Amino acid sequence: MHLKAKDNLTSVWEQLSDFVVPGSKVIEWGCGNGALLQRLSGKISYGLGIDKSKKLIDYARKQKESAGSTNIEFICRELGEHYEDDQRYDFAIASLFFHVIPVPEAVYLVKKLEELSQRTIICALTHPETFKQKMVLWLDQRFSDHYDNFIAYKKAGYMKGILERCGYTDFRTYDTSIPFVKIYILP
Ligand SMILES: C[S@@+](CC[C@H](N)C(=O)[O-])C[C@H]1O[C@@H](n2cnc3c(N)ncnc32)[C@H](O)[C@@H]1O
Repeated sequence: MHLKAKDNLTSVWEQLSDFVVPGSKVIEWGCGNGALLQRLSGKISYGLGIDKSKKLIDYARKQKESAGSTNIEFICRELGEHYEDDQRYDFAIASLFFHVIPVPEAVYLVKKLEELSQRTIICALTHPETFKQKMVLWLDQRFSDHYDNFIAYKKAGYMKGILERCGYTDFRTYDTSIPFVKIYILP
């Protein structure tokens, strides 16, 4: 149940991929090293990944080149309240992204992500149920550079609280193999 264990996240990405309809146009925010879009590239018509980390975007581009994937692109950009995009997508995805940014920005960006797409898929941290889960999650977050944002996200009621602040009540929630990670589908 270690959040950063590659095998654990791989099964979550498999689950996320299953929600995406073949031939779709997809945008992913906070795409990190691009692993999810790379996994989706054989199934979708186009994928755009955005992340503020140049190091991760450079890595994602290298992986894309070596896999010969021509239908996915990666852009290094900081997402925030200034974000505009005149394109529309079939699916918009954000995985483990909304706890790393300030709550007001998360509320703004969830609404923006939903405007951009037919269907929004969010994979996010949720309330841990046992002491062990609580400790694993705390250890995972405590030494990250976004710990203060995680604490504010937790106080806001995790992803469910953020979605309620956005005014959404009509969303579906799915468990994943990681007990404190859930998938939310809007609308
Ligand atoms: C916890 S990682 C999740 C990475 C990947 N989506 C996953 O599921 O493993 C959060 C990512 O969000 C990116 N990020 C944080 N704040 C951002 C911002 N304001 N704009 C764009 N990317 C951001 C970080 O660089 C990092 O790659």
